Amino acid sequence: MGSKIISKNLFAITTPLYYVNDLPHVGSAYTTIAADVLARFRRLQGDSVLLITGTDEHGQKIQRTAESLKRTPQEHCDLIVSGFESLWKQLGIHYDRFIRTTDPRHEAIVKEFFQRVWDRGDIYLGQQKGWYCVSCEEFKEERDLLEGHRCPIHPNREAEWRDEQNYFFRLSRYQHQLEALYRDRPDFIQPEIRRNEVLSFVSQGLQDFSISRINLDWGIPVPSDPTHTLYVWFDALLGYVTALLEPDSEPTLENALAKWWPINLHLIGKDILRFHAVYWPAMLMSADLPIPGCVFGHGFLTRDGQKMGKTLGNILDPVELVNRYGSDAVRYYFLKEIEFGRDGDFNETRFVNILNADLANDLGNLLNRTLKMVHKYCGAHVPEFSEEKVQADNVLAELGQDLGDRVARAYTTLKFSEACEATLTLVRTGNKYIDEQAPWSLHKQGQHAAVEQILYTVLESVRLAAYLLSPITPNLSTSIYRQLGFSLNFNEQSSIDVTAPFVTHAHWGALPPGQPLEEPYPVFQRLELLETVPL
Ligand code: MSP
Repeated sequence: MGSKIISKNLFAITTPLYYVNDLPHVGSAYTTIAADVLARFRRLQGDSVLLITGTDEHGQKIQRTAESLKRTPQEHCDLIVSGFESLWKQLGIHYDRFIRTTDPRHEAIVKEFFQRVWDRGDIYLGQQKGWYCVSCEEFKEERDLLEGHRCPIHPNREAEWRDEQNYFFRLSRYQHQLEALYRDRPDFIQPEIRRNEVLSFVSQGLQDFSISRINLDWGIPVPSDPTHTLYVWFDALLGYVTALLEPDSEPTLENALAKWWPINLHLIGKDILRFHAVYWPAMLMSADLPIPGCVFGHGFLTRDGQKMGKTLGNILDPVELVNRYGSDAVRYYFLKEIEFGRDGDFNETRFVNILNADLANDLGNLLNRTLKMVHKYCGAHVPEFSEEKVQADNVLAELGQDLGDRVARAYTTLKFSEACEATLTLVRTGNKYIDEQAPWSLHKQGQHAAVEQILYTVLESVRLAAYLLSPITPNLSTSIYRQLGFSLNFNEQSSIDVTAPFVTHAHWGALPPGQPLEEPYPVFQRLELLETVPL
């Protein structure tokens, strides 16, 4: 491999590469929002980040879907991909790379990788017999299937019996190396529950898995035997590598791996854990490549307590959701309401209530009423503030002191809900504080300095909260910052780097006294529940 630029600040993160059998569902939106939030947080901290997303376009599932819609597979993929791109735009996802596995450069990477594994002696021809779920694109153990050989993840589909010649990957050869990986790097699989699932699966003994299919045109031909097509998962996982290529560089493994490999974090849902935490590291070991930093498997979303599915007719359309409530609301709900890693639920009434309570009332109203008082009592600029004059026991200053550090730890460990809770605690304390201090009475008593100190500390709390929430609610945070007299956009990294770097703005006291303020206007409109028009 060529020379590597070593910098502790490089951070590469991936979402799964989504199947294009259908338009994006809320599950894909969930992973992508979480990845974007983490990427934004790392960028805020000054890291150089590469956020990779994309689409997994080959295989039987896509081929059949296209056929049933009377489209060519490529036409079908192009159509669906534009649906993904437009949803990511609507949701404010700032990805750096969008990899499509039909990209011709990807085929070159797959072929080179295959050759390495082949040269290692890890690929052989064998007979594959078993039940195949086309929707999962995975062979299933008979004992894991429901009655009638239906797949538990796709209960309305029957798995298909296959008895054919396939090429196999010698996964069994990597049993000990994988066990050593899990032992030596206990953080490789997160959270703990997912790690345990993998440990238990691997301890049963690993079997080789087939990496080619016959009678399938829509895919990459096996380089050593073009009568076979590569198994879609073997091809798709390598999409993460292809995505690392600079736009104008030759598609070679050396080029792809030069800067960003190994990827720091693969963010996935729990159903595709085995592929990422067992098959993928084994494939990389075979090709003699370093293993990524971490695979994090999040939980599944339900709707009103029920599994979402076409047959139940309760699929939540992310496009509808964001059209109705806006991107900040959607991002906030999923990250605040669900502990990342666990299963979670979407309920529209709870959605509206949480958004109204946290963002419209607690945060938005606090800013609005404080700004109105500032305009009335202090003029249209940030009140004077001197650290010495603030009472030593000022509850907001005290809470704000180490909030940035605590929230940073929460984001770094993907505890998004904790990051929101800690920030909201400051905001709620701000509301209590202003009620207790009653600056309107102090104003009447002519205690101007005290009024200024109180209003300053509250505005500063709102600012700090807006900054720390900005990876999740970039639009709301931008509006708050604008009202506080900053000209910056949390959707433009260069503007943050110049105007609000993490070293100062994640800490208490960054609001400059005397800074001119905007006229107050509500930053977050209360949401209305449209019960008559279910999503
Ligand atoms: N194409 C593969 C991934 C290949 S990565 C090299 C794939 N695609 S997928 O579109 O079916 O799934 C993408 C992601 O959506 C998975 O991480 C999956 O866990 C997630 N979800 C699908 N349904 C979900 C919920 N109901 N809830 C949360 N996430 C869910 O698998």
